[in-house]
Amino acid sequence: MDKKKATLTVDGTVPIELDVLRGSLGQKELDIRTLGAQGYFTFDPGFTSTASCQSKITYIDGDQGVLLYRGFPIDQLALNSNYLEVCYILLYGETPNLDQFYKFQGSVTNHFVLHEQIHHILRGFCRNSHPMAMLCAMTGALATIYHDSMDVNRKTHRDLTAKRLLAQMPIMASMCYRYSRGKPFIYPRNDFSYAGNILYMMFSSPSDKYVVNPILERALDCILILHADHEQNASTSTIRTVGSSGANPFSCIAAAVASLWGPSHGGANEACLLMLEEIGTVENIPLFLQRAKDKNDSFRLMGFGHRVYKNYDPRAMVMRDICHEVLNHLEVKKDLMEVAMKLEYLALHDSYFIERKLYPNVDFYSGIILQAMGIPSSMFTVIFAIARTVGWIAHWKEMHDEGLKIARPRQLYTGYTRRNFNSKIK
Ligand code: CMC
Repeated sequence: MDKKKATLTVDGTVPIELDVLRGSLGQKELDIRTLGAQGYFTFDPGFTSTASCQSKITYIDGDQGVLLYRGFPIDQLALNSNYLEVCYILLYGETPNLDQFYKFQGSVTNHFVLHEQIHHILRGFCRNSHPMAMLCAMTGALATIYHDSMDVNRKTHRDLTAKRLLAQMPIMASMCYRYSRGKPFIYPRNDFSYAGNILYMMFSSPSDKYVVNPILERALDCILILHADHEQNASTSTIRTVGSSGANPFSCIAAAVASLWGPSHGGANEACLLMLEEIGTVENIPLFLQRAKDKNDSFRLMGFGHRVYKNYDPRAMVMRDICHEVLNHLEVKKDLMEVAMKLEYLALHDSYFIERKLYPNVDFYSGIILQAMGIPSSMFTVIFAIARTVGWIAHWKEMHDEGLKIARPRQLYTGYTRRNFNSKIK
């Protein structure tokens, strides 16, 4: 990296010289690593101005609305690639040739069987448990199976973990769904695509031949690609933090699933669909827009706004096109789509949203597509988790490849100063 210098002066003391780091696409970041030793820490709750690591995986330009996986623009990947090829690119940095692709696909399908003990764990849950809660517990439970046999310090073991997780995440996810409906579990087939297998495992019946609908398969594949990685978001930062102690990767993934579940992160797709249903008709939109702008109302426009994008989320654009395709193909009612489009239009012309640079994000249209496919809203974030698994593992691998440094942020202490203890219960 080309290093320039910045100077920091605090209360007229001797200036502190800091390196200015440059990313490969020009971002400038102050290297503050030497500050702690000089008695200063930086204060940045929510990490709005802090880079926690360096990474070669994904690039976002939030002002321009650009998203690149290993340098490749997201729209090109969504239109011309498939999810497993994107997984290869995210994990290994380059596009695979045909031979490499088939080898990779084979090494994923090799792990298409889940340990039987995991079934018993699932059967302990109430049938009406939220599938994200079940998925979180099941991924964590994989650590009970793959612990002694896996050494996080060995590259080959990390690679094996990546393939195991890619193979087993959709199996566990579909089991959560089938369990909640009292249906028998279905295992994936080697002759189906990754997305085709998700549809097959969720919706087929053991006694009937299942034909994968190619339009829905392609739409789901695109959704997986669009959600595959998004640099240092909350769940990816979680896996880096948990993994930085050298923890078992399956418990790291469980932590990432937990983080993703929140409505400000992956849970927004479920929350967005519920919001669109609550709005119901275009006539009600102004009322909800008013509520979103009211500081005394906790309501927020779900699927709108982003910490990094201050422009249209490039994933939302692709998602909107897929949404049209799927609804046209299925010939279903388009009431929610109408509400969503009108809501988007009105918000994008409203000074509150314009001034704050709030645009639709990836979750604004995804719920409508998933619902049209027959996927229940409680499973939306689970689909997101399947897709994001590769991003989580790619970051976990990258962190290990570069050498672990345990995550240990500092704080600004605002509590009591020293005082003497006198027990009040004596
Ligand atoms: N509706 C109404 N107002 C909003 C919204 C919204 N969706 N998002 C942000 N604002 C306002 C917020 O009230 C604040 O206004 P003011 O400056 O007057 O106090 C301003 O915009 C900045 O908001 P913030 O909360 O400081 O921004 P943030 O970067 O901390 O939050 C966010 C980002 C995504 C959590 C937030 O925009 C939000 O809650 N959006 C709705 C939930 C959502 O769609 N989440 C999915 C994100 S994309 C998927 C993913 O990456 O996981």
